[in-house]
Amino acid sequence: MGNGDPVRLAIVGAGRMGRTHLRALSGSRDVQVTAVVEPVSAVRDELTATGLRTYATLDELIEAGGVDAALVAAPTDLHVDLVRRIAAAGLPILCEKPCGLRPEDGAEAMRAAEDAGVVLQIGYWRRFVPELVRLREQLMGGRFGDLSLISCWQWDAQPPAPSFRRRSGGLVLDMGVHEFDQIRWLTGQELEEVHALPAAATSDEPVAGDPESVALLARLSAGAVATVSLGRRFPHGDCCWIELMGTADYARSLFIWGEDGIGVFHDALVAQADAFAATLRGEPQRGATGDDGLRAIEAADRAMHSLAAVASR
Ligand SMILES: NC(=O)c1ccc[n+]([C@@H]2O[C@H](COP(=O)([O-])OP(=O)(O)OC[C@H]3O[C@@H](n4cnc5c(N)ncnc54)[C@H](O)[C@@H]3O)[C@@H](O)[C@H]2O)c1
Repeated sequence: MGNGDPVRLAIVGAGRMGRTHLRALSGSRDVQVTAVVEPVSAVRDELTATGLRTYATLDELIEAGGVDAALVAAPTDLHVDLVRRIAAAGLPILCEKPCGLRPEDGAEAMRAAEDAGVVLQIGYWRRFVPELVRLREQLMGGRFGDLSLISCWQWDAQPPAPSFRRRSGGLVLDMGVHEFDQIRWLTGQELEEVHALPAAATSDEPVAGDPESVALLARLSAGAVATVSLGRRFPHGDCCWIELMGTADYARSLFIWGEDGIGVFHDALVAQADAFAATLRGEPQRGATGDDGLRAIEAADRAMHSLAAVASR
């Protein structure tokens, strides 16, 4: 990779999110997707026809070479194994969230990247939404005084397919990690206690044990309190918003709101990939690190213990 050349990126897993990256990254100057690993042959044929090099397995990609980095967008339960193998091949990794299902997965992925001396960035794209970047600067600059309350909502239009949900770790991990990372990144505080309450199961609940809606409550390390609301059937579309209250000011940001949010999301994916490329060129890492990825999974793990305790009552 020459200093001015785009990073030649392989996408590992061309499903819903892998293809979203593919579309979004056509707008990047710093990253060029040149290869895809995807086990489904019909998807490979379609992508080969667009000029991409395609492979059925990661081993085939590694053997062929010719890429500078890999973006992992395969199902979550495969992330740690893929990260380990990509790191062993000496390639830097941008891994979709969450980087594994359990804290030990996140820790192992982090260790594998460190041992191999390669960059590992976790795909927490909220860190690249300009409205949230400004909010963070204002928080750090003292606009809000002492932060007392932060509330985050993530309400999706539709739940993902049951086949996805069964491998995703469930709503508290799959959706919750975005909010946990966002809270940590914005406030600089850790989530200590995390409590969770699910909506009551309905008779037609599509995936047993994976609630459709959850309310979470967390105590942060510097004393603020956080609430997180996760839901999967919101008639206004996919929406994310946040409210902050401190001793000196208040803010509300509806940063993803239905159709209007798609552009914000795609722009953040490009900015995230460009920041990854900048790290490969020697700039400090601006995206979430392996350790950040682990902290988000740990918070989700606490929430899941709380859900299990509620279920056993
Ligand atoms: N950042 C976000 O906002 C966001 C949004 C959606 C999904 N995700 C994450 O992206 C990941 C993928 O989710 P998705 O919705 O695209 O799932 P998906 O099931 O639609 O796609 C996964 C793809 O990976 C392929 N695959 C399976 N095994 C593979 C292997 N060994 N090597 C390479 N590819 C393999 C599958 O054939 C499929 O095409 C998950 O970890 C999910 O949490 C992130």
